[in-house]
Amino acid sequence: MSQSNDILQVLLTEEQLKAKCAEMGAQITKDYQGKNLLLVTVLKGAVVYLADLMRCIDLPCAIDFMVVSSYGSGVKTSGVVKIVKDLDQDLSGKDILIVEDILDSGMTLSYLKGLLQGRNPASIRIATLLDKPSRRKVDLQADYVGYEVPDEFVVGYGLDYDEKYRNLPYVGILKPEVYTK
Ligand code: PRP
Ligand code: MN
Ligand code: MG
Repeated sequence: MSQSNDILQVLLTEEQLKAKCAEMGAQITKDYQGKNLLLVTVLKGAVVYLADLMRCIDLPCAIDFMVVSSYGSGVKTSGVVKIVKDLDQDLSGKDILIVEDILDSGMTLSYLKGLLQGRNPASIRIATLLDKPSRRKVDLQADYVGYEVPDEFVVGYGLDYDEKYRNLPYVGILKPEVYTK
C-alpha cells in the first residue's frame, strides 16, 4: 500500500526541494569561506535534508549527530531535553551550523543552541528547510530558511507522523483522517 494515499496535497515537489538545497548550499558555501564548518544534525527528521544539503556545499565540512529525548511532560514548556547521544567532537573554534528539517515551537533548538554555545564554538547558526513561525513559543529565528509553511501537518523528506512517511521524496500535507482516527 502506497503511503502517498495518505497525502492530501503535495506541498513541495522533489524538484523544488532539489533546487532549494542547491540555492541554500550555494549561500552557505559563500558565507563559510575560510571557516571551520561543522554541520550538526539532531536525529532523525533532518537526515534527508542534511544528506542533500551537504552535497551542495562546496567546502570542506564535517558532520555530527545528536540524539535527544524529552524528560517528560514538563519538557513541553521548558524545552529541556536529555542528551541520549552527544556530539563526538570538541566544538572550540568550530563554526557550527545546526541543520533542521522544521522549526516549529523552537523549544528544543533554543535549548540546544544555548547548550552548544556554552562549548565555545567560533560561531553558531541554524539552517532549517521548513519554518512554521506561527507556532513559535520562544524567540528563535533560523539564519537560513528554505520555505515558510502554514500550520498544517506536514510529512515526507524526513518528516514523520508516528515514524512513518520519512521516506517520501516530497513534502506533503497529511490527511487529517490519518492522525485523528
Ligand atoms: C521534529 C522536527 C524538529 C522538531 C521541531 O522532531 O524534526 O526536530 O520536531 O519541533 P520544535 O521546534 O517544536 O522543537 P521530532 O521531535 O518529531 O523528532 P524526529 O526528528 O525524530 O522526528
Ligand atoms: Mn527532529
Ligand atoms: Mg518527529
